Amino acid sequence: MTDSPPSKAANQMWGGRFSAGPDAIMQAINASIGFDQRLYAQDIAGSRAHAAMLAAQGIISNKDAEAIGEGLLAILSEIEAGQFPFTPELEDIHLNIEARLTERIGEAGKRLHTGRSRNDQVAVDFRLWVRDQCDQAIAGLTGLMRAFLAQAEAGADWVMPGFTHLQTAQPVTWGHHMLAYVEMLARDRSRFEDARRRMNECPLGAAALAGTSFPIDRHMTAKALGFDRPTANSLDSVSDRDFALEFLSAASICAMHLSRFAEELVIWSSAQFRFVRLSDRWTTGSSIMPQKKNPDAAELLRAKLGRILGATVALFTVMKGLALTYSKDMQEDKEQVFDAADNLMLGLAAMTGMVGDMAANREVLAAAAASGFSTATDLADWLVRALGLPFREAHHVTGALVAMAEAQGIDLPQLSLAQMQSVHPAITAEVFSVLGVENSVRSRTSYGGTAPERVREQIARWKAILG
Ligand code: ARG
Repeated sequence: MTDSPPSKAANQMWGGRFSAGPDAIMQAINASIGFDQRLYAQDIAGSRAHAAMLAAQGIISNKDAEAIGEGLLAILSEIEAGQFPFTPELEDIHLNIEARLTERIGEAGKRLHTGRSRNDQVAVDFRLWVRDQCDQAIAGLTGLMRAFLAQAEAGADWVMPGFTHLQTAQPVTWGHHMLAYVEMLARDRSRFEDARRRMNECPLGAAALAGTSFPIDRHMTAKALGFDRPTANSLDSVSDRDFALEFLSAASICAMHLSRFAEELVIWSSAQFRFVRLSDRWTTGSSIMPQKKNPDAAELLRAKLGRILGATVALFTVMKGLALTYSKDMQEDKEQVFDAADNLMLGLAAMTGMVGDMAANREVLAAAAASGFSTATDLADWLVRALGLPFREAHHVTGALVAMAEAQGIDLPQLSLAQMQSVHPAITAEVFSVLGVENSVRSRTSYGGTAPERVREQIARWKAILG
């Protein structure tokens, strides 16, 4: 039910059995060249490896392989110079490049597709692209980890409030808080490394789905393209998109981490908190309110997970229930991954810049650390240690003391000894030594705890790892 005229000619690449071209709308829904042209470098690398292997195996002549290799390099320059005539009639990047090759070198160009299919071709191109993105993510994460580590080092023993439920919980150190992100990002990094390792098998040579009758050498092409080995099952090779899903999953978890710190930045940079000052480079002003310095970059980073997780869900939904092997549904994989990868790399770069520029307000952090009865747990622990109270009872006594201080609008250290003793007569003046925040953080020396000495050990460990 369409008025659009069919495009005149049948497809020059596969149109042997077709007498008419596709409907214009068919072309619009079918063509992927608008986005998969991003795979041009990978497509050319894959084709060059394939042609060299065909010649080495005596499947095509050395002369033809040379012409193909050179022709592909010329096309690479053409694309990079923005002079390549991409055309939707030729559907995708694979057919566009192959047709152009034949246009340039004639007959030999038509021999390139021997023992190969677009199904294994797109699988290898896309894997190469995603593999490269894993490397970029790993590099970006390493840079961001270094930025957090530098912050940790600068303020290893600065005190700040630690929160649960965004309510003051116990004092912690700035260095400890920064290192929490180093840990999170390290897990992200290992997820990308792990995914990269698993995806590093070459599907080229699986051909359409069943392998090929030509005596190809899949080990040779795998090696030429930097893969560890060829994939072992041709059906799986052309139908698998786990590598993209793993990349997206790792990207989603990473973007979730970025969004958590972004949220902290939004809160911390507000006039009510003033924990940190963001530099002008990462903030914007308001067109009406002259006093404003908005944390836009942080807000956008908080939002990026939305589209990255969206892409992840989209690709899972595309792949769900697809019978083996390749189905055109799978062409819907690329835009999702492109968008997610672009936004992840942008997010990592922006966060690295923001963390590098961020100035913590040490005095404000210290004042906040001491407020909100943050050393109540220290008081309870002291009642256990010094007076031998069972912890539950100590908890109860401390709760009564907090209520007393709150009623008077003061913090725990401002209560007098007499007031304390009215709640529990055995309390001595020694209690005041545990109510200071510096003491509090210094006492938390358990492994992984917030004590500056523990934090400095972790800083040293990360410095050794990150160089
Ligand atoms: N453009 C296609 C894609 O991205 C390439 C593979 C096409 N294969 C096919 N049998 N039509 O999935």
